[in-house]
Amino acid sequence: MLKDIFTKRIKIKDIPLAATDNIDLNNVPQHVAIIMDGNGRWAKEQGKIRTFGHSAGAQTLRSIVKIAEVVGVKVLSVYAFSTENWKRPITEVNFIMNLLSEYLTGELDELNEYNVKMRFMGDKDALPKAIQKKMDYAIKITENNTGIILNVAINYGGQDEIIRAVKNIATLVQQGKMEPKDINKDVIENNLYSRQLPPPDLLIRTGGDLRVSNFMLWQIAYAEIWTCQTYWPAFTQENFLEALESYQKRDRRYGGLNKK
Ligand code: FPP
Repeated sequence: MLKDIFTKRIKIKDIPLAATDNIDLNNVPQHVAIIMDGNGRWAKEQGKIRTFGHSAGAQTLRSIVKIAEVVGVKVLSVYAFSTENWKRPITEVNFIMNLLSEYLTGELDELNEYNVKMRFMGDKDALPKAIQKKMDYAIKITENNTGIILNVAINYGGQDEIIRAVKNIATLVQQGKMEPKDINKDVIENNLYSRQLPPPDLLIRTGGDLRVSNFMLWQIAYAEIWTCQTYWPAFTQENFLEALESYQKRDRRYGGLNKK
């Protein structure tokens, strides 16, 4: 079944120009982060097993990368597997690992063709060696691409990321390479997986839940949040544009006052 989905190569539909009519292309969020939730519930509604929803979710990701790239988003961060997802039944964990692995093989040519640059966030060492290799290869093959950055969070947790940053910085202090008084926002950010990426401007969560689930906790400090009831496998390019439209109506004050 998994193989089918990747060999059939469901084509990314062309985006009708009119669909972007309501979008101000000069005010597109630079960085969009997505919590792709609802795969299991979507599958259940179809009378299928949960893993069917994850496969369908991988197809949704293809179409959303494309629309994000077309409208000019610079970075798309997606939550594929959290540090807490290991608690799921082993069959589901294995299925998601296989899906990620297939994705990194089956989609790489097309992602490369679209000039997509791949990045990853998370504790790579705990992942199967085969996936680690594919991640390294995807980074290498796309390293000179200049289009959208697709930043995939695998075995990622926001708290874990902050703990790692604190440990790195504490080690530098212990080694006498840094003084506590020099620790600032930049130092913390340079020790996060997302180093050198701008923070998300917009956080999308599909599937109806209203929580951030340990995703990019530091980085979303001033992100605008948009949620929808739609489960991730049913999420469309039009839904993505709706999120952008909503974002463009927000008044981003960063704790200050607006200019009006
Ligand atoms: C949340 O749905 C989704 C996940 C934990 C896995 C996300 C994985 C994909 C979308 C696969 C595609 C990604 C890549 C990079 C190939 P859920 O299982 O929590 O759904 P539920 O809330 O309905 O139970």
